[in-house]
Amino acid sequence: MNTIRISSRMRWLLLALSTVLVAGCTEIGNMQEQPKYADPYDESVVFGVAAPELDPNAVPIGALREDQLLYAGRVDGELADEFPVEVNEALLLEGQRLYNGFCSPCHGYVGYGDGVISLEGFAPPASFHDPVIRAKPAGHYYDVIVNGQLVMFSYASRIPDPEDRWAIVAYIRALQLSQSATLQDLPEDLQAEFAAAVRASEAAPPAEDMSSGTGR
Ligand code: HEC
Repeated sequence: MNTIRISSRMRWLLLALSTVLVAGCTEIGNMQEQPKYADPYDESVVFGVAAPELDPNAVPIGALREDQLLYAGRVDGELADEFPVEVNEALLLEGQRLYNGFCSPCHGYVGYGDGVISLEGFAPPASFHDPVIRAKPAGHYYDVIVNGQLVMFSYASRIPDPEDRWAIVAYIRALQLSQSATLQDLPEDLQAEFAAAVRASEAAPPAEDMSSGTGR
């Protein structure tokens, strides 16, 4: 029974080895006898205090915000007039949802500054269709969402995801375009369709006037 004898010798070997290893836990680098700190501000031989001050430049893992355009609406420190995300229909619809929820109470659904708060006696914000405000770069709108402006408080904590903020900015741009677009801004096929619809409505007989007459 040669094989059994070998394996029993192996067992002894393993047992001897593990005894050395287990002993190592207490003898080598003795963790169970390291100093314990009851108070985070106890004196420590390694750090000075048990809980050292964070380096002011420390960044939590996954929280590095290197992309200035995405996180601050800026390029080279200046407010930028570009988007760090792709502007597509899905983004605009999300922007509409967020704008209607967070911004319309003051700025109004179309952005004229005629939200319900003005009915309550608050000073209304300026219109997003004011040419001076319309001319401001996209980064300005992002910046106001993050930092607020005068009486408007910051929305950074309520809209924490930068993509959501950019979705709102994109929707404000869509609102601005919707109120200042000309026929020439439409793609050519839509221009033709629109012109045909106008011609059709002009050619149609006027709708019967229901306001006068006998029926009640
Ligand atoms: C409680 C009311 C209120 C809400 C809600 C609100 N705003 Fe404002 N906002 C204001 C007022 C008031 C001003 C004008 C501040 C000032 O005097 O400059 C303003 C100014 C702004 C401006 C600057 C316009 C300029 O002068 O260039 C932007 C951009 C803006 N708001 C975007 C937003 C967005 C986006 C939201 C939603 C996330 C929002 N606001 C939500 C009240 C509000």
